[in-house]
Amino acid sequence: MDHLLESPWLVTSATVATLATLYIATASGDAKKAGTRSLYELPGPPRQFLLGSAAHFPKDSWYEVFSKWREEYGDVIFVPIATMRTVIIHSLSDAEELLNKRANVWSGRPNNRMVADHMGLSWSLLLTSPGKSFNEQRSIFRKVLGAQAIIQYDPLVSVEARNLVESLRDSVGNPSQTIQAIDAPLTIKMTYGSKIYEEHGKELADVNMEALEFITWCFSQVWIVNILPISRLLPSWFPGLKYPAFAKKGRELVSAIRNRGFDLVKTEIERGSVDLSIVSKHIHESEFDPDVLQNATAMMYLGGVDTISTALSSFFCHMLMFPDVQKQIQAEVDSEVTSGELPTSKQAVAMKYLGVAWKESLRLAPPFPTSVPHVNTSDDVFKGYYIPKGTLLITNVIQRAQELSRIESVAFGFGRRLCPGRHLADRVGLTLAACALATYDIVPLEGEDIPTRIEFTKTQTRRPLDVKCRFVSRG
Ligand code: HEM
Repeated sequence: MDHLLESPWLVTSATVATLATLYIATASGDAKKAGTRSLYELPGPPRQFLLGSAAHFPKDSWYEVFSKWREEYGDVIFVPIATMRTVIIHSLSDAEELLNKRANVWSGRPNNRMVADHMGLSWSLLLTSPGKSFNEQRSIFRKVLGAQAIIQYDPLVSVEARNLVESLRDSVGNPSQTIQAIDAPLTIKMTYGSKIYEEHGKELADVNMEALEFITWCFSQVWIVNILPISRLLPSWFPGLKYPAFAKKGRELVSAIRNRGFDLVKTEIERGSVDLSIVSKHIHESEFDPDVLQNATAMMYLGGVDTISTALSSFFCHMLMFPDVQKQIQAEVDSEVTSGELPTSKQAVAMKYLGVAWKESLRLAPPFPTSVPHVNTSDDVFKGYYIPKGTLLITNVIQRAQELSRIESVAFGFGRRLCPGRHLADRVGLTLAACALATYDIVPLEGEDIPTRIEFTKTQTRRPLDVKCRFVSRG
């Protein structure tokens, strides 16, 4: 029961009757459809009457726990949590079958009532199931972050590349904080403008980081309002009820994410002193509904934080671990770029060896190894099992991806939900990687051996932990 955030007795005593009715209805309703098997026949961690596997569902380290489960239970695992059904798959071909080939069925998102309704994040693309708002927001992403569109941000990327190179100069020890600092300026300048960043950058970056950590943490918890929606009727002072206090904090952060940057740009426009940004460029375009633009840009601001820097940190770790690869990339950089200059984005994305190494690093250490859960928006049958509409699907394919011989990056997800920031992430990541390797050798601390493995944080965004290296200027 340790895995449920709310007080155990609240779930087990005050709600037993409701749960029992729902559980029996769900389990028996799922049990059989002609010629199919029930999900409850799939292997998975131990289940208890009413609560299912809630007691075993991990609060963190999803990748590690699910990978252990795979060894014990196989590639397809069923984890019911009270009335919430979760299927975890580990094979890339199963993921491609469901999320790519059957994208019309498997592109929904879970109705996470805690995060969407109680914290007020229902507007975000991340939680929106396919429909009008989903299409409108994804269309904005395509227009402003599509493969060609992102070239317009190259000058911004060059500035951040120079800043990164400067701040890594003679760096000894753990470079994570220096690398993490690249996301906020880039995302905020691109979305809301350089002037807003200069005047409010620190405040916007701090709120964003806090919101991101809080929201991802809330996603990974088992909340009573998610498994027992009727509990929302309990007064917030009800003994043992914890979600209302967390929801209140979440609402404040979510509101800041959606409104603060956007409102600042509107004020600048009214004053006539605004500079170029995605918001200022598109706010008066009839093609875009301002509300949808506000939602999409808030998601860029939120989605851009902690992603590129995490991928880059892992890339630098891989360079430390594989000095021969590092040398080959440096040879490629040296052959393409005039000595003493930093590579441009255009040069970086054209470097073949660097491109392969970047992809490989993302494949071995994706920032979100268990991606974001998808949900089926209509009933489905998979491998003979009947999967009722509304079942959560978690992919944990990186273990198996390592077994594949071809370079296959699943780091950006699948099907219709494929990360809309992927072109930007690749272009920025490659530019920063090329600039860093043009300037420095990444080597172990003096007297230390080359590490043979990377330790990671237990969080949903899996970052390298405790990396120790030196960035030594190349002669
Ligand atoms: C290396 C960097 C990045 C990685 C590895 C990454 C990975 C992912 C993954 C795995 C998903 C879930 C896909 C799925 O559900 O199948 C996702 C969704 C998303 N990403 Fe990224 N991402 C990165 C950078 C970015 C950036 C820079 C932005 C924005 C500027 C962004 C915005 C989003 C958004 C808005 C979604 C939600 C899409 C939806 O639900 O339809 N990401 N990303």
